[in-house]
Amino acid sequence: MILLETSMVFSRIDLGAGLILKNHFVLTPLDMQLSRENGQITQRDLAFHRSRSRDVGLDVVGSAYVDLAGNTAPNSVAVDTEEAIPGLTQLAETIHQNQTKAVLQLVHAGRATNKGATQGQTIIGPSSIAAPFAGFPVPEALSDRAVSKVMNQFIDAAHRAERAGFDGVELHGANSFLLQQFVSPVSNARTDKYGGTLVRRLRFPVELMTRLTALVKSFHHDFALGYRLSPEELIADGMSLVDTLALARVLDDCGITYLSLSLRNYAQTSATMPATQTEIVTLFKRVVHCPVMVAGGVKTGPDVIDAGQRSELIGIGSALIKDPNWLKKVRNELNVD
Ligand SMILES: Cc1cc2nc3c(=O)[nH]c(=O)nc-3n(C[C@H](O)[C@H](O)[C@H](O)COP(=O)(O)O)c2cc1C
Repeated sequence: MILLETSMVFSRIDLGAGLILKNHFVLTPLDMQLSRENGQITQRDLAFHRSRSRDVGLDVVGSAYVDLAGNTAPNSVAVDTEEAIPGLTQLAETIHQNQTKAVLQLVHAGRATNKGATQGQTIIGPSSIAAPFAGFPVPEALSDRAVSKVMNQFIDAAHRAERAGFDGVELHGANSFLLQQFVSPVSNARTDKYGGTLVRRLRFPVELMTRLTALVKSFHHDFALGYRLSPEELIADGMSLVDTLALARVLDDCGITYLSLSLRNYAQTSATMPATQTEIVTLFKRVVHCPVMVAGGVKTGPDVIDAGQRSELIGIGSALIKDPNWLKKVRNELNVD
């Protein structure tokens, strides 16, 4: 979709699955680490989302952990137990008071965490291979049973988000967390049906999304399913654009509501395939039918127009953290009524 008029990014958009947004702007998932030590929602969480979701069409609440062993950082939001539901309900209501839709991002960190964040819980991963950065432990490889347990934790978390009144969930398949670890050949050395060929490495996220689609059918009402991915890993033999374009295509076939790209800059080209000068967002737009969200470095009015030419949804992170009135100012700058 090419937006020809500036004002279109400020107009309504229907993503399907009940996500009718008042405009094309999204508060990107942000783990602000404002929750209690047990992950319950605080007044500071509510205040942050009240002020930052006011002007955008969609607020994706960042990094809610589906199991304490998969927490990415201290004081992140929890969705791992029934006790999390009352706080999450207040959070969803707070966002809805702004006529903004609310999606909860579900995460399991896999090997990309530490015992401080997991409060001593065993750190797990697809295989016993540590992340190639200082300070990350060697994870315990998931057994067959443990793989299904983690998948069930995601399903239970999505069900809790629905009962808390969220309009959908987004799987955090980006930033080197567990779902990405299954897709990446450098973190997944499994020899069962979840490792080896590309088809097998994609199996965990695809099976999970298929099960979530079945769960949503059982709700008998609209509920959105988004997926966020990092398009490529910048390490030797890491997950490539070919891998993630294939993943996007299969997820699209599963019926995801939107695909979200985690980028440093919304207009960046591939670092691992320099021969292609086509921007990464355009490559993904070519392989999926669902709406795409692009984020990374949208800071000014011209950036907004530029990003709006590339994808349906424009994710804003840092600019809105710094200034809750950022979108109003951009609107004025662009002379939109
Ligand atoms: C403080 C902070 C926390 C973040 N937490 C998350 C997160 O929980 N989940 C996620 O997918 N991305 C997270 N991100 C990445 C943002 O969603 C976004 O993709 C990135 O900041 C680029 O957009 P920007 O240039 O508008 O900030 C975080 C970024 C920041 C600055």
